[in-house]
Amino acid sequence: MIGKANKLGRHKIGLLILLVCSVFLVLFIWRSNYSQFVDWSSEELEILQSLWLESLPPLSPDQSNAIVDSTAAAKLGQQIFFDSQFSINGEISCATCHQPQLYFSDGLNKAFAIGQTARHTPSIVGVAYSPWFYWDGRKDSQWSQALGPLEDPKEHGGNRMQYARLMGSDESYRIEYEALFGNLPDFSDESIFPVNAGPVQNPEWNAAWQMMTEDNRAQVNRVFSNIGKILAAYETRLMPSETRFDAYVASLLDEDNDLEPSLLTMDEANGLRLFIGEARCIECHNGPLFTNNEFHNTGLLPSPGELPDQGRTRVLQLLLEDPFNCYGGFSDAGIEQCTELTYMRTNRTELLGAMRTPTLRNISATAPYMHKGQIPNLAEVLKHYNQAELALIGHNEAEPLALSRRQLQQIELFLGTLDAPIIDSQVWGQPPL
Ligand code: HEC
Ligand code: HEC
Repeated sequence: MIGKANKLGRHKIGLLILLVCSVFLVLFIWRSNYSQFVDWSSEELEILQSLWLESLPPLSPDQSNAIVDSTAAAKLGQQIFFDSQFSINGEISCATCHQPQLYFSDGLNKAFAIGQTARHTPSIVGVAYSPWFYWDGRKDSQWSQALGPLEDPKEHGGNRMQYARLMGSDESYRIEYEALFGNLPDFSDESIFPVNAGPVQNPEWNAAWQMMTEDNRAQVNRVFSNIGKILAAYETRLMPSETRFDAYVASLLDEDNDLEPSLLTMDEANGLRLFIGEARCIECHNGPLFTNNEFHNTGLLPSPGELPDQGRTRVLQLLLEDPFNCYGGFSDAGIEQCTELTYMRTNRTELLGAMRTPTLRNISATAPYMHKGQIPNLAEVLKHYNQAELALIGHNEAEPLALSRRQLQQIELFLGTLDAPIIDSQVWGQPPL
């Protein structure tokens, strides 16, 4: 009897040891899939630090927009951003295409409101840091950009007279507007201020606009540009927050070991190493927002049936002629403060087919990709860079990479670590309460 019990005991101890060993083995395999063991050189660490969100300097206020820092303006801007009264049919707002749950993009190849637009809707989170707006950068301030969609027949489809009048006829808008800018002009006389007027495609509205006196047009333009400034004050609040990647960099840089270690998987860390090294993404996607805010031709194919987009080259003259640019009468900046516009690159050959480098923060949530939404997912984006075909127009600045499928997958996995909510999502990342 005693012998049997002993045998059973030994059996149990054996099982226990086996169990403990397997737990350790599983733990070891699991831990070794995480990258605290990845050794980063000091040069690499420096690059990682430059991509870290903590390295983002405070946003210097747009000199051309005197109210950009005002919280009252931002709150009013939030109302207007989500308000479909600002459209010709009462159905379209900025949020029709810039949807909060998609980091203010829309998930479509090309944007669609009143009609289909020519390009893909970019996320606008963090874009306030850019000196240029739109894929081709045809606007030099966020307030001036905001005026574009309001009058575009495919987007909000209205006209500036309509919007200027709305600011006065809606009581709560009028009070808030006047607190920021002083009295609104009296637009009630329709023989002087027609119901619909603006320098837009619609021939009737355009004719009505041309009939107005220069002084009256200037009054409307003033209110219209102020609506843009109000919208911009709101949009500058839409900033990215700390991602898993940022937490990882923080823990790598944390010499006192005060922080909880934050880990990337081995694949993600290898993807990161490729991103800043062999794959050369960092040449254009650099800094804490993963963009150099410059214009590059990356050899994209046009959408089927379309000619290649000329990009930056087409808009250089437009920028200089825009009455709502930094030099113009509606800008609050002195001409000497308009350094971006004054010193912009203008080499038409170099800039042919070039678009502004987009941010890669929150990238896995903002498919499809590129200026026409012509690439459906990140795996295809990586294939595109790996092959770097000759450009149909201009010169493809990206060069073939010859990375393996596994390496491309690793970069894709790394890009997946760049998602995080918008800062103060509860306040700014949704329609006003
Ligand atoms: C029909 C959908 C649609 C509507 C409505 C719309 N947008 Fe856009 N938005 C786009 C598209 C498409 C682009 C890119 C167009 C281009 O580059 O030619 C864009 C670009 C932008 C950009 C520049 C982003 C960048 O990366 O350069 C900002 C900022 C912006 N929109 C804000 C607004 C605001 C503010 C409103 C409301 C007044 C608005 N949008 C209304 C589709 C829309
Ligand atoms: C020569 C500069 C350059 C290099 C190098 C580069 N990119 Fe880009 N990237 C751009 C530009 C410019 C665009 C926008 C192109 C367009 O739509 O015409 C872009 C677009 C993207 C997009 C789509 C963004 C969106 O919102 O649609 C992703 C994702 C991306 N790049 C990732 C990468 C990765 C990963 C690498 C490295 C393998 C890389 N890029 C290398 C300049 C560059």
